[in-house]
Amino acid sequence: MVNEMPEDAGFDRTLSVLKEGYEFIMNRSESLNSDVFETRIMGERAICLTGSEAAELFYDDTRFRRRDAAPSRVEKTLFGEGGVQGLDGERHVNRKAMLMALMDNEAMDEIEMLVLHYWQQYFEEAGSLETVELYEAAKVVFLQVAAKWTGVPLEESETEERAGQVSDLFESPAALGLQHWKGRRARSEANDWIEGFVEEVRAGTLDVDNGKALYTFSWHRDVKGELLDKKVVAVEILNLLRPMTAVSVWVAMIGLAMHEFPEERDKLEGAGEERLEWFIQEVRRYYPFFPFAAARTDVDFEWRGYHFEEGTLTLLDLYGTNRHKKNWVHPETFMPERFEGWQQTPFNFIPQGGGDYDFGHRCAGEFVTIVMMRATLDFLVNSLEYDVPEQDFSFEFNDIPAVPNDKVKINNYRFK
Ligand code: HEM
Repeated sequence: MVNEMPEDAGFDRTLSVLKEGYEFIMNRSESLNSDVFETRIMGERAICLTGSEAAELFYDDTRFRRRDAAPSRVEKTLFGEGGVQGLDGERHVNRKAMLMALMDNEAMDEIEMLVLHYWQQYFEEAGSLETVELYEAAKVVFLQVAAKWTGVPLEESETEERAGQVSDLFESPAALGLQHWKGRRARSEANDWIEGFVEEVRAGTLDVDNGKALYTFSWHRDVKGELLDKKVVAVEILNLLRPMTAVSVWVAMIGLAMHEFPEERDKLEGAGEERLEWFIQEVRRYYPFFPFAAARTDVDFEWRGYHFEEGTLTLLDLYGTNRHKKNWVHPETFMPERFEGWQQTPFNFIPQGGGDYDFGHRCAGEFVTIVMMRATLDFLVNSLEYDVPEQDFSFEFNDIPAVPNDKVKINNYRFK
């Protein structure tokens, strides 16, 4: 027997998505008392899912596809066209393997070392009387880390401008008007920048270590044994540079968490890696970043007695799943110690998507993110002393990505 799917009845909800942002699915799931409901977004019928059981369904690639799921405005800014996010089946597995081949323990050690090095350099060069916005500083530091790790040449003189350009990619996808066009321009400039290096690597005129992403992606062969179009290589290199720079959003949230929960911050002084990691895991769970993942049903099927029609846009609530009452005790409380002895499944903690890294669309950079956040927290707690001036720490739930309004200012810093 097929049941009627709970419905968010009424007109198209695109404006409500923009207004409610991260809380759009959670608000409706609570009022309809259901982890699945249908609505209308951008002129079409859409199904919204939340919670770990629905996440498990969403990541079943026999039922969902990605190729026509992302809105074109998001492809033209955030993702870039032709990248891994929109691939399915063996083409996805081939491309994802190219990315995942980078993610070994040696890489994590190198990234940790680079993060500590560039933070140290940043604060050595900035005058100690200067007020630093942690969010803006992290963008510059992390682009340097990403460029060094991937083998992309980056002159010191161009770092700030490039960091601004790469940030326009992740600050623009949900935006309308001017900010969106800024994102499109940044996308085309950033692609051109990287395509030039791909041409040079292929021509043998740029010497890059053969373990670096710029080298391995330039020579990667697809399922037909052919080299990737240089535009696609650029998109995939930017699939590393862009999100690594975007970890700055979570650095701002680390700053906010230390301000909002000083008793938790105090526990970090001199603490080992484990406690630092609980704290950053709780930051990734508690604060919003990526609102939903999008797919389309690839076949007609039934789930929990509800009919899913082929071709339907489906959104999985990432923020809400990390606060779902079935999965979390006191989800509204910031409690890093919840991660002590905690059991992770592929679907219950999904700030960067769920499912499988190699065969699914789970974020290729989740471990990179954790390492970058942990090293930054370690630096802020154990290597630097600073004051936190009066400022506006609030953020908007419909600002995607959300960052505290004053970008987390610190001043009077000195090395410990
Ligand atoms: C800044 C924090 C980050 C957040 C919040 C984040 C979030 C996400 C999310 C939600 C997805 C999509 C999951 C899905 O479609 O089911 C994703 C995919 C991806 N992420 Fe991240 N990510 C972050 C950092 C990174 C980093 C540092 C890298 C690279 C080093 C990275 C590389 C990727 C790639 C390549 C994909 C596409 C995977 C695929 O389609 O198979 N991300 N990320």
